[in-house]
Amino acid sequence: MASPVRPAGIVSIASHAPEKVLTNFDLEKMVDTSDEWIRTRTGIVERHIVADHECTSDLALEASRKAIARAQVSPDEIDLIIVATVTPDFPFPATACLVQERLGASRAGAFDLQAGCTGFIYALTVAAQFVSSGAMDTVLVIGADCLSRITDWTDRTTCVLFGDGAGAAVVRPVEAGRGLLAFDLGSDGSGSELLQVEVGGAKVPITQEMVAQKRQFISMSGNEVFRFAVRAMGESAERAMARCGITSEDVGCYIPHQANLRIIDSAAKRLHAPTDKVIVNVDKYGNTSCASIPLAFDEAVQDGRIKSGDIVVCVGFGAGLTWGSCVIQW
Ligand code: ACO
Repeated sequence: MASPVRPAGIVSIASHAPEKVLTNFDLEKMVDTSDEWIRTRTGIVERHIVADHECTSDLALEASRKAIARAQVSPDEIDLIIVATVTPDFPFPATACLVQERLGASRAGAFDLQAGCTGFIYALTVAAQFVSSGAMDTVLVIGADCLSRITDWTDRTTCVLFGDGAGAAVVRPVEAGRGLLAFDLGSDGSGSELLQVEVGGAKVPITQEMVAQKRQFISMSGNEVFRFAVRAMGESAERAMARCGITSEDVGCYIPHQANLRIIDSAAKRLHAPTDKVIVNVDKYGNTSCASIPLAFDEAVQDGRIKSGDIVVCVGFGAGLTWGSCVIQW
């Protein structure tokens, strides 16, 4: 990988989850499931769910306000806003434009990026290219999703897995040796049907018949996605680490996409990552899609598990299929 013109990195990170908490015991009253089944198969204990009046841009805005305050950046210094999401407020306009207006980021360009649950890693990588090239100085990267809005709450095989949330990071030039050291991005569209929302796009428009069949919700081949996820996360993180010449001994912590504790444990084993170096908060939030990595990142920075100078490896997978990882010196 060519050396960047100037190093780019995250100078602040923040997150936000909606107030309402839905526990496994609440789900026991909604579908034929149990706290025990959900805990042992997924590691999830509870998740946050948006209220009726909230949506993706609301969560994105809250996380963004915290991130720019922490970075001591004013809204008019932001050059670009990228929102990674699979649940935009609307098919168009982009959720990034809604955030731009509400933040008062009058100089910023804005667009949404769709790469399934790997969206935050893709967006971070794109942002770093603009900053490294010198084309821009300040990019706001947001991962935000309300999977609760595309979940069939009568389907026990999916509804126990998901939650809502947002994370935001400010990407700027950083001192030499810091920031984004390497990345790996990949995709395999042959697996597109393993994880999808089939209806509501240009191919299969929404009709009453489609809605009656509940085809506007997430459908997933859980076992296939599980196997893919373990392999893709392990291989992607290994590639990114090799590109900047580090080994697992150099890594301060890993931040995997928080989909399922068993997926995280299996990928960690493959990477020879000790448990205490793997950030896990899937128990509290479930799978929040594009928000999952920044939610875990923010938590680990705030509680001191990530310290200045640590090497952090973020790694994710998602619908597409997609995968990606990045190595960051904090
Ligand atoms: N409660 C109780 N039983 C359940 C539940 C539930 N919530 N869900 C499924 N079961 C049952 C099944 O019906 C099945 O019963 P059967 O044996 O009588 O047929 C049994 O439990 C086992 O089902 P499996 O699907 O084999 O269970 P598994 O151990 O594979 O776990 C899971 C399922 C948790 C979905 C797992 O496969 C997984 O995590 N896959 C990856 C999911 C993922 O990461 N998705 C990414 C989504 S990202 C996005 O959508 C944006």
